[in-house]
Amino acid sequence: MKVGVVGFGYVGLPLGVAFAEAGHEVVGLDADARKVERLNAGTSHVEDVTSERLAALGDRLRATTSHEELASCHAIVICVPTPLTESREPDLTHMIDAASAISRVLQPEQLVVLESTTYPGSTRERLKPILEESGLAAGRDFHLAYSPERIDPGRTDHTIRTTPKVVGGLTERCTARAVELYREICDEVVEVSTPEAAELTKLLENIFRSVNIALVNELAMLCDRMGIDIWEVIDAAATKPFGFMRFEPGPGMGGHCLPVDPFYLASKAREFDFVTEFIELAGKINLNQPYFCVQKIERTLNAAGKPVKGSRVLLLGVSYKAGVGDLREAPALKIIELARGLGAEIAYHDPHVAELPELGLASAPLDEELRRADLAVIVTAHPEVDYARVVAEAPLVLDFRGVTRGIEAANLVRL
Ligand SMILES: NC(=O)c1ccc[n+]([C@@H]2O[C@H](COP(=O)([O-])OP(=O)(O)OC[C@H]3O[C@@H](n4cnc5c(N)ncnc54)[C@H](O)[C@@H]3O)[C@@H](O)[C@H]2O)c1
Repeated sequence: MKVGVVGFGYVGLPLGVAFAEAGHEVVGLDADARKVERLNAGTSHVEDVTSERLAALGDRLRATTSHEELASCHAIVICVPTPLTESREPDLTHMIDAASAISRVLQPEQLVVLESTTYPGSTRERLKPILEESGLAAGRDFHLAYSPERIDPGRTDHTIRTTPKVVGGLTERCTARAVELYREICDEVVEVSTPEAAELTKLLENIFRSVNIALVNELAMLCDRMGIDIWEVIDAAATKPFGFMRFEPGPGMGGHCLPVDPFYLASKAREFDFVTEFIELAGKINLNQPYFCVQKIERTLNAAGKPVKGSRVLLLGVSYKAGVGDLREAPALKIIELARGLGAEIAYHDPHVAELPELGLASAPLDEELRRADLAVIVTAHPEVDYARVVAEAPLVLDFRGVTRGIEAANLVRL
């Protein structure tokens, strides 16, 4: 089979690699010419795909900026970004651009699958009419389905193969074609009756996480006031073998998905005179978390007799999650902006992020900075850092991730 992947990023590249590893020919189309050039030179821009893994695929996987190549594919999978506009409304521009380009080369019998996260109705109401500008009818001349990506960057215990894939086609035949495609790379494919059900499945998964993270973030704020250790409470609750699922508080929600996707549903719901209150409330609490964290930085320094103004604050980890270098919606960026606004001098150490050019910062060597800083703040707990050593060497440590659990020290404060 020849598979075309449109959007060769965090989702598209690992997907393309999975098809190529299963023996298929993969062509990855990306609008970013530099990315395409680097990939064809064998350099991966996604941590989960090592350059060695790319090399092992030989010419089974290629990147391109030209849509023409898609005409000879059996299936075309769309994995372009679905961000929010400035006013937090769904921004489907990338999907619309990709669809228009595909419509110019679409062939009878081809299968098109949308994987980008979006609101229910996007495949049928937005994607289908654009693809049909080709003169071909969806469900009759070509096949169309939605299948949400469930990738979790940095995770190794669950892979594309072992994570069940949900698929919903426009017609039974569309679903069957999509199931056939994904069986090549997934052990289990779960069929749902419509693209809308598949679209909402993905949103439910992300909203579930967002709401539960908001719940523990709110409890962390209450615990801070009541003098109770939130980590001790969560550890204890997690011993219940049923009816409880562990979620952890932190400096705020980041990444391309959780801070963004729920608002796709909230926006669509308004068309039906429906207010999704859980989504809005969780968004509000999670958005506030970096502000609370900066307040905690102020209080921690204050307790040590230091003002924020002029203090050197070292952030440990600036990417949005451990083990990856992705900075999208990273709460560290908000914390830096707010702490700088109060006059703090900021440094950071992150083994996955060499520099933050827009902020005029570069990752500093840990040894040197631990001794120089007035306060070291654990924002993202990358596994490469020895946190016991951080507590032993820094004058003052504030831990927003609970990785210092089990360490008792006079210079250590936890969320
Ligand atoms: N990153 C994740 O963990 C994750 C997980 C599940 C779902 N998703 C969803 O998958 C989708 C893609 O996310 P991502 O993280 O891979 O984004 P990304 O930014 O890493 O990759 C998207 C790629 O698409 C390219 N692109 C943009 N417009 C294009 C166009 N018109 N034609 C061709 N290429 C184009 C970009 O250059 C980029 O390389 C989003 O809808 C996201 O919500 C992401």
